[in-house]
Amino acid sequence: MIKAKPLSYALGAELTSIDMREALGEQDIQLIQETWHDQHVIVLRNQDANPEDILRFARSFGSLDNHEATPFYRMEGYPHLMEITTQPFNGRPSETRNVGRNWHSDYSYTGRPAAASVLYCVKPAPIGGDTMFCNMVRAYETLTDKMRRIVDDLYSVYDISLTKGFYERDASEVAETKRLNPPIAHPSVRVHPGSGKKALYVSERVSHFHGMTSEESRPIIDFLCSHATKHENVYRHQWRAGDLVCWDNRTTMHVALTDFDQSEVRHMLRATIIGEESGFLVG
Ligand code: SIN
Repeated sequence: MIKAKPLSYALGAELTSIDMREALGEQDIQLIQETWHDQHVIVLRNQDANPEDILRFARSFGSLDNHEATPFYRMEGYPHLMEITTQPFNGRPSETRNVGRNWHSDYSYTGRPAAASVLYCVKPAPIGGDTMFCNMVRAYETLTDKMRRIVDDLYSVYDISLTKGFYERDASEVAETKRLNPPIAHPSVRVHPGSGKKALYVSERVSHFHGMTSEESRPIIDFLCSHATKHENVYRHQWRAGDLVCWDNRTTMHVALTDFDQSEVRHMLRATIIGEESGFLVG
């Protein structure tokens, strides 16, 4: 019987009695989904999963993205898995060695932002390299009524080039990734299709609000990001090999911390569950 143990004040639950090598039953899927909607981040420990197990588990919760928006980051032979590693792969320096270094929600710079992500730890950094998550439902609910009315009317313009470390990657791949992902505006508050809850949808990859200048937008973006990432609204995950962490990108932001020796191996595999179509391209 699956049990859920809360992991922090604001979000996150550890689920026990799941073995990813086995297919999930209908009841288990429903229970995991309910916990996921309620806690936004779920953690499975001590797994011994291979790429097929990760994909089977992730597919229980929706269709998988084949990572066309960032085609250079796919695992060879597994387009539905992104290899997030400090180590060279496919015969070249890793283009994912610095993925996720500022607060964000996955694939927010596309027209099908990720519904959820499933990240499996093959090898953690020897020390550090944690990932932090914040609760964007709570961030929205803890704004004043007036501020909520302001953000309800805003559209966040997402710009992939605001991904921290983006320009440290291979120049031709940077150019192609930018071509594939022109700036796009999404509502700054989105309603979760499963829970019906409203969540703030703003991040450190937002350049401005549609119809406003950067100068006008910047203080609001900065305020909303610092409000959302207050300590009491965050869960910090310390990785162990065999951990699987699944997060809802519609109700959380996350950041991969750089507090580890980047010459050491940190090796993760991510599957991404496609979300609903959203947004409009901005010139
Ligand atoms: C990501 O942003 O998807 C990667 C997070 C991590 O490597 O901890």
